[in-house]
Amino acid sequence: MKILVTGGSGFIGSHTVVELQAAGHQPVIVDNLYNSNREVLAGLKNIIGQDVLFYDLDCTDESAMRELFKKEKFGGVIHFAAYKAVGESVEQPLKYYQNNIDSLLILLKVMREFGVGNFVFSSSCTVYGQPDTLPVTEDTPRQPATSPYGNTKVMCEDVIRDYVYSKPNLKAISLRYFNPIGAHPSAEIGELPSGVPSNLVPYLTQAAAGLRDKLVVFGDDYDTPDGTCIRDFIHVVDLAKAHVKAIELLDMQTDANYYDVFNVGTGNGNTVLELINTFEEANDVKLNYTTGPRRPGDVEKIWAQSDKANNVLGWKAEKSLTDSLRDAWRWQLALRQRSE
Ligand code: UD1
Repeated sequence: MKILVTGGSGFIGSHTVVELQAAGHQPVIVDNLYNSNREVLAGLKNIIGQDVLFYDLDCTDESAMRELFKKEKFGGVIHFAAYKAVGESVEQPLKYYQNNIDSLLILLKVMREFGVGNFVFSSSCTVYGQPDTLPVTEDTPRQPATSPYGNTKVMCEDVIRDYVYSKPNLKAISLRYFNPIGAHPSAEIGELPSGVPSNLVPYLTQAAAGLRDKLVVFGDDYDTPDGTCIRDFIHVVDLAKAHVKAIELLDMQTDANYYDVFNVGTGNGNTVLELINTFEEANDVKLNYTTGPRRPGDVEKIWAQSDKANNVLGWKAEKSLTDSLRDAWRWQLALRQRSE
């Protein structure tokens, strides 16, 4: 199937391109390179052995998207392209609402015009906020979002659900990601945050590489075994494979108007300190870190129940936390080599 991957040169998008190709599909990337660069395309070529079709386009440009759909006959769309910096979204909410919602609305509209009926959306466990019970299932009630970024995920899920219920001949899945980390084992592609990373693992690997003074663990007085927050850290390659399963399930689905949501996590929660210890052991590297105050807006603990994805998508996370942290470190070292 020829599949449009919006945001396909980003962190999760690029890994999904690799897995789509490996499964026999034809990924086509659309990305405006807002938060990625063309080096990703070279990395993809090294893994796949051929160029991936790439369009430097903005998904909020309706006429450009229409031209693209005229040119390429897509069987499905996987929509990653979005702004994702939680802090920035608090400072510039309109930028986030406009970009993340407009791109969705335009895609859905153009898909309808061209009769493209399979749609996978990048959602997030952020829609659960701090859940009352753990692990979270897909039936765990969503909570009001704690940032405009998180709210765009809630709103986009609702837009897709309401639209499918209006029977436009659209089959759609929202995948609620837990915390994606790691990199491709080849170290050809990985996470490339611009500026100072706000997420744990890119900050940690940069600190271990000496690019940052030290990692600060945000809070050690939470109600968890060692006082630090708990997250469900999932290897990005496992997460990428869930997208292949999702688009294939949609393609086989006989109900022309189908919508469902799936948690994509490992089912295990680890504390921030456990992650640090695993990183040090897996890579034989000593990390300079200290503990500091809690970060406002952080949830204390969350991890997934992924039984629905196991049973319905036929997908299961295969890689361990050690695998993830080895690959993340290998990627950081490869980046260092490239800049030398
Ligand atoms: C955030 C977003 C989530 C998004 C994910 C990946 C929210 C509430 N969460 O998750 O939607 O999918 O990023 O982009 O919007 N930590 C430190 N020191 C650091 C950095 C982080 O101790 O320097 C801790 C945090 O306090 C947290 C854990 O590490 O407990 C994970 O943080 P992070 O990687 O930023 O992800 P989330 O906040 O869980």
